[in-house]
Amino acid sequence: MKEKIDQLKAQAAERITSMTKNLQELDEARVQYLGKKGELTALLRGMKDLSKEDRPKVGKIVNEARAQIEALIAERKEELQKKALEERLASEKIDVTLPGRRPDIGHLHPLSLTLDRIKTIFLNMGFSVEEGPEIEKDYFNFEALNLPKDHPARDMQDSFYITEDILMRSQTSPVQARTMQKNEPNAPIRMIAPGRVYRRDEYDATHSPMFTQVEGLVIDKGITLADLKGTLELFLRQIFNENVGVRFRPSFFPFTEPSAEVDISCVMCHGKGCKVCKGTGWLEILGAGMVHPHVLEMSGYDPKVVSGFAFGMGVERIAMLSYGVDDLRLFYDNDKRFLRQF
Ligand code: PHE
Repeated sequence: MKEKIDQLKAQAAERITSMTKNLQELDEARVQYLGKKGELTALLRGMKDLSKEDRPKVGKIVNEARAQIEALIAERKEELQKKALEERLASEKIDVTLPGRRPDIGHLHPLSLTLDRIKTIFLNMGFSVEEGPEIEKDYFNFEALNLPKDHPARDMQDSFYITEDILMRSQTSPVQARTMQKNEPNAPIRMIAPGRVYRRDEYDATHSPMFTQVEGLVIDKGITLADLKGTLELFLRQIFNENVGVRFRPSFFPFTEPSAEVDISCVMCHGKGCKVCKGTGWLEILGAGMVHPHVLEMSGYDPKVVSGFAFGMGVERIAMLSYGVDDLRLFYDNDKRFLRQF
């Protein structure tokens, strides 16, 4: 009996100290020897068959063996726990000498920068900044601007309709009518209205179905075409350069009379003629004109008492020309390699 116990003890010691690689294997070993159906437990159960004299002796040996095995398990358990902790520490180690990740610091988008420059120039001339909705009534987008339902000039600005009477505004000009109607009749106005506009259009280097405009409207007693010319020339010299050439060409808009398209001398070739200005030396930059008497009347202003001028420009076009960007889509792609340059 003693030999059997010694043998079992030696076996258990061997298994526990050198054959368990982790806590789970150690627990399996514990169950094998000390568990309810374990080998040492089986020996204890067999004691009932022993003689009265042998029982206490064997009992003592078995209990000693049990205590020894338990001690070995506890010792091994500590070792394995320490090993597990070390492994975890090693695998989760942080290299504090690695260079840090710099958070990207953003900055204003080139279109916002351009819009800010435009706003600053007009604010310095005493203009206020007005706003209107991008989802607009047909009435403000067209009708109040002298473009009744069947007007052929509507075709140039086909847009996205939400209902028969509501559309994505195709221009910022509706803010003209909105501003007049919000004011007392004939009250002086000197405002710009920046914002997004929408048109059914291609998406290529020079077209986009969404772009940004800045509208301008000045109304007061005695406003003339000379005021329009002077204001726009002053603006264009500040936004481009002191020596930029400015030219007014007769044009047509239903809401201005007379109407003009305003060109600047080409910023690339300075008027000599190049690819950008298609050899003409001039670049179209603005639409403008004297507010049509009927437009004043429709919004409660009296054309016999006041007169005014209006203009509209594309912010993308001004940004492209002042930064030398040759593809409009770059402004919308959000490619950081492009945006970082501003
Ligand atoms: N709204 C016109 C356009 O989008 C521009 C314009 C504005 C022309 C104001 C004259 C006066 O083409």
